[in-house]
Amino acid sequence: MSEQIELTSVHNTAIQSAAIRAGHTLTGSEPKIFEDSLALAISGMAEQDAIAFCKNMGPSNASTCVVRSRVTEDRLAAARERGVEQYVILGAGLDTFALRMADRLGSLTVYEIDDPVFQQWKRERIESLGLKSPPQLRYAPCDFETMSIAEALAPAGFDADRPVFISWLGVTQYLTLDAIRETLKWAGKCAPGSEIVLTYTDGGDQSETLIAHAATRGVKLYSHPSAQEMTDLLREAGFTKIEQQTREQASERYFKDRADGLVAPEFQRMAMAIV
Ligand SMILES: C[S@@+](CC[C@H](N)C(=O)[O-])C[C@H]1O[C@@H](n2cnc3c(N)ncnc32)[C@H](O)[C@@H]1O
Repeated sequence: MSEQIELTSVHNTAIQSAAIRAGHTLTGSEPKIFEDSLALAISGMAEQDAIAFCKNMGPSNASTCVVRSRVTEDRLAAARERGVEQYVILGAGLDTFALRMADRLGSLTVYEIDDPVFQQWKRERIESLGLKSPPQLRYAPCDFETMSIAEALAPAGFDADRPVFISWLGVTQYLTLDAIRETLKWAGKCAPGSEIVLTYTDGGDQSETLIAHAATRGVKLYSHPSAQEMTDLLREAGFTKIEQQTREQASERYFKDRADGLVAPEFQRMAMAIV
């Protein structure tokens, strides 16, 4: 049972991300930025604990997990319109896309990649909740620091000759620059038309404070590139059309006049790039 698997602080960040999506789904003002009907159940938290956790995060941290999922699922929908039929979720954590969309996946195959221990925990949790995994959902266990994505995806049936939509949300800050580079190298060589949407933490002159704060949660922040450094990493990996979402853009698009007081993330940035 999942209760017997020992989770690390980094694994716990996936539970916290689900709690934030749950808190927003339960108490966020309309229009919601993102609704995740399964987040509370999969997090395993009690409703009042998830809501309290969300409140304690403060308005710019509590927005991170909802806005990144919203942007990603909107862009995925656009990619599907242009015929992309593979979706790879890097560091999926407790992402519920495939479960929520089970009857609307159609020809889309979803590959979830995560640390093997945490992925096993998630699979057992899904089973214990009695949720049905759709046949289009495939699991590909992988540690980004030690295994290549291509190696992890091959046994799951990934077709490297067809374009893919890739999300990488809330993960890069926990990885070394070498691991980020290696994963982007794989992504940049995907079939033309492939797209990646990722988040990274740009701490700027507050990086040391962020690192110290993360350490109090038992988590190590390894990478905090600037927007220019992330653009360079993406270009170096072979991406041509690269976009960055600034805090101002996110504010304008998603956070205007919100009654719940949520504001755009202060340090989480999003980048999108197409092969
Ligand atoms: C903050 S959670 C984000 C989960 C999900 N993407 C979301 O937005 O809710 C970070 C995830 O990265 C995964 N992760 C961190 N380091 C990893 C590594 N070296 N290899 C594989 N997965 C890793 C963790 O297991 C966790 O699920």
